[in-house]
Amino acid sequence: MTGDSWTGEDVIERDDLETGARIFVALHSSRLGPPTGGTRMKTYPDAGSARRDAMRLAEAMTYKWAAADFARGGGKAVIAVPPDLEASAREGLLRRYGRLLSELGGRFYTGGDVGTSSSDMDVIAETGTPYVFSRTPERGGAGGSGSWTALGVFAAIETACERLFGDPSPRDRRIVVQGVGNVGALLIERLAAAGARVAAADPNGEALGRLRERLGIEAIPSESGLEAPCDLLAPCALGGILNAETIPRLNTRAIVGAANDQLAGPEEALRLRERGVLYAPDFVVNAGGAVAITGIEALGWGADRAEAAVRGIAGTLRRVFDLAESSGVSTDAAARRLAEERLRRGTDPQADGR
Ligand code: PHE
Repeated sequence: MTGDSWTGEDVIERDDLETGARIFVALHSSRLGPPTGGTRMKTYPDAGSARRDAMRLAEAMTYKWAAADFARGGGKAVIAVPPDLEASAREGLLRRYGRLLSELGGRFYTGGDVGTSSSDMDVIAETGTPYVFSRTPERGGAGGSGSWTALGVFAAIETACERLFGDPSPRDRRIVVQGVGNVGALLIERLAAAGARVAAADPNGEALGRLRERLGIEAIPSESGLEAPCDLLAPCALGGILNAETIPRLNTRAIVGAANDQLAGPEEALRLRERGVLYAPDFVVNAGGAVAITGIEALGWGADRAEAAVRGIAGTLRRVFDLAESSGVSTDAAARRLAEERLRRGTDPQADGR
């Protein structure tokens, strides 16, 4: 998934003159439904890398919705902000972004992502734009997507354990979680409750220390998170971490995590296979947040329905592992095949995410 070979539909760009921020809304595919994806806000080295990030992440959303059999299309927004953006200026930026969403008139729906919260979605929605999911419950939204994403990752970890050890329970398995942000911390709670031996790495020593005290997990230095010996590695921070340099240093049986866009390129999936590492494709594993929140807010699902849909990730992942095995391709290629098949024939109108 590189910018050079992008097959998407459109990229809308906007300079925010007041703050110097640049906004990129990448619309990858409306084949299954309106492009829907999070709004990521962070500082990038340059505008080109922000634009490419938006495009790659929009493509990942196309695959995410298709693999989850959910009738939405792939899109993503990136707001590249200057490093010293102040809170008051940030709020103005969010409001102008809200008006941009209204101008787009439903060509793109959004929710929270790295660098944006449910309260940010509230601010965006205050402009009157109806194209925003994951507002706070006080404002009528379904709240942040982190806990749903964590539930989906947990279900995927059970599937990977079942494949590797013949028993889905993560009990007594050593699991390294890389990144203790929104999703990582909630995943660690679930894993600890299930009796896994959890170790975590994060440059934010304070957040890590709090988890260690509360749950008795092991804290490991952030730079050694990828190579720590374990049964299973769960990347829950930023993307691009599985590459030619890191893959030879891995010390794990499987990779199952929430981060978007973990593979630096498609050839990494083969490298992982050659090393005997079972890779659970990120866009299958991390669909829980998007599916649950959009199901609740756009389709009127109750919590039970949302939970069933998110737990359905386990079954999808089982099919991906089976297909990879039976056709001798990487798990990533198998998951893409499943998604592309859905993109060809459309989602099942009766299925709504199952
Ligand atoms: N951040 C979510 C993801 O990457 C995107 C999302 C959140 C979409 C909430 C819709 C609603 O999957």
